[in-house]
Amino acid sequence: MKRFTIFSMMIFFIMGLILPMSASAEKTLKIGLGDPIESDQGVLALRFKEIIENTSDGNYKVDIFPAGQLGDEQKMVKDSRRGSIDGAVVAVNNITPFAKSVGILTLPYLMQSFDDAVNATTGALGDKWREALIKEAGVHVLGWAYSNFRVLTNSKKPVTTLGDLKGLKIRVPKNAIMIATWKALGAEPIPMAWPETFTAMQQKVVDGQDNPHITNYTMKFYEVQDYSSECHYLFSLQPLVVGEKFFQSLSAKDQAMFTRAGIEAQQANLLFSVTKSEAAKQNMIDKGVESLEIKDEDQWSKLAIEKVWPQFYDTVGGKAEVDKVVNALGR
Ligand code: MLT
Repeated sequence: MKRFTIFSMMIFFIMGLILPMSASAEKTLKIGLGDPIESDQGVLALRFKEIIENTSDGNYKVDIFPAGQLGDEQKMVKDSRRGSIDGAVVAVNNITPFAKSVGILTLPYLMQSFDDAVNATTGALGDKWREALIKEAGVHVLGWAYSNFRVLTNSKKPVTTLGDLKGLKIRVPKNAIMIATWKALGAEPIPMAWPETFTAMQQKVVDGQDNPHITNYTMKFYEVQDYSSECHYLFSLQPLVVGEKFFQSLSAKDQAMFTRAGIEAQQANLLFSVTKSEAAKQNMIDKGVESLEIKDEDQWSKLAIEKVWPQFYDTVGGKAEVDKVVNALGR
């Protein structure tokens, strides 16, 4: 009996040593999204979660907090950098206030297609933004969501020409380049955090906003908006980032696993965006939103490029840097 008790105590002692070790080996990542889980941000995050959880031998779990549960997107960037959350998927325009050189990606009419968006975020350009975001914002990009062009929605009037923008109150992210763009086009931009947008439109504090069809549909903007105008001034890119401090705390093997998961999640997102954008547009129409083409978009792009780009050459690192990106996109 005595021998049995000593034996049991030894087992408990050994278990006591082992269990905390295996418990502490499991890390649960806290990842926030600005958009609902059904959005293309959600597709990126869910695929990332699936890969990490399936390939890490139970060492990592990923908890996703969609729809701004962890705060607005700029807050999530700051929290990822300081480590109070592990990461987030946010629109690039909500990171560029912390990484000015990456603002090039928000210059109006820079990207004109999905191909441009992919070319702007992979290869040498992908490396350039990754390094800049580490240095300037303290976050590490693992993958990009390709969310398509930001179309303009509003509840006031059909917008098909530049003239129609006059006096239109448009909610914009707190992003200097986007504010300047809508001003240059003649609208009245009102900078506001993303989670406040729906209520601001519902209460008619603003007339409209701009975001891609998938975002507009999954955010249920059809409940408070009547018109959607097909402009192409900005291709919305939304990176999945983790805090650089967190990334550097990982072993080389885990860094490779996270990097691989980010790339695969990015591919899943691209497929989703390319194949589901039209359906989201149709869903908006089915919910009663009138879809409109812009008649004079050449003038929009001429005006925006001429008026806005020169204002921000210094902020984003000089005209030569902008030219390099333009050339790399083959124009
Ligand atoms: C914004 O307009 O602030 C963002 O594009 C919102 C989003 O993350 O979809």
